[in-house]
Amino acid sequence: MKRIFSGIQPTGEVHIGNYIGAIKQWVELTAEYDCIYCVVDYHAITIEYEISELRHKTLDTAIILMACGLSPDNCKLFVQSHVPEHTELAWIFNCVTPIGELERMTQFKDKSRQHRANINMGLMDYPVLQAADILIYKAGFVPVGEDQVQHIELSREVARKFNSRFGDIFPEPQAILSLAPRILGIDGSGKMSKSMNNYIGLLENGDIIWEKLRTAVTDVNRVRRKDPGNPELCNIYTIHRAFSKDEELIEIDKGCRNASIGCIDCKKILYRNMMEELSPIRERAESLKKDTDYVRDVLKNGAASCREMAKKTMDEVRAGLGIYYPV
Ligand code: TRP
Repeated sequence: MKRIFSGIQPTGEVHIGNYIGAIKQWVELTAEYDCIYCVVDYHAITIEYEISELRHKTLDTAIILMACGLSPDNCKLFVQSHVPEHTELAWIFNCVTPIGELERMTQFKDKSRQHRANINMGLMDYPVLQAADILIYKAGFVPVGEDQVQHIELSREVARKFNSRFGDIFPEPQAILSLAPRILGIDGSGKMSKSMNNYIGLLENGDIIWEKLRTAVTDVNRVRRKDPGNPELCNIYTIHRAFSKDEELIEIDKGCRNASIGCIDCKKILYRNMMEELSPIRERAESLKKDTDYVRDVLKNGAASCREMAKKTMDEVRAGLGIYYPV
């Protein structure tokens, strides 16, 4: 079976944009691929973070992934720092990665601008650790968002450079882009994000979700109830596409264009469909939060079996490099 690797940062609070754009696809891919999914805590320390919160956020992120349908039955799930071979391989990759390539990375440039007081080596090296995450398992496919495509290209280049100098060990991984539409924040402007505080949390309760939906920006040209709207320009309609069935989407599209339904009616339908999908996820997350021993075991076993694979790759790598390593 073809192997997939992907990672998610331990933000602790996953929003519906992450769910629609990534996690839902991660779950679907388990049917056809050998999937390895990772909570990438060592990536999270490249910017300022709250020390006392990191461990909780790591666990909460794993819980959300499990609540959405990932389990030891359909994938391997673990925490990056529990398999230290990732960082070991990253060091070796450092030695084949041109600094100029890293300086060109859009995410590095953006983050350097946002965190002027702490532009550290880890921030610049972030894509190299990401390449190691993927390649230590020789994964050929990486489901990611558009913003990560440049990093996957760098992984390909690292694999090529390593292979040509030290022997053919690594595949050149390809990005799998989600077909899901890009979800804007409820303010209708930027991308949905926690830092912009324009998000709907996956585990938020119904009242809060409704309040956020109720006040969310729709098609800005539809000012009065009797104005016809354009679903293509409406972020609420985009969210509908992720949660509502085709027949209903056609109805809503028509009703919006001829103003036979108003934005609030449309949002009520969305709310109902969203809750139908999200309530069971929230319930599962709540019961997992009460059984963290189970979650810990899942992560521990996931790390143990990934570590076996990672060690095999490192043996090949050391041999290729000519490292003195008595086995
Ligand atoms: N950089 C990714 C993001 O922020 C997270 C990540 C880390 C990742 N390592 C990875 C994604 C390996 C895919 C593969 O979204």
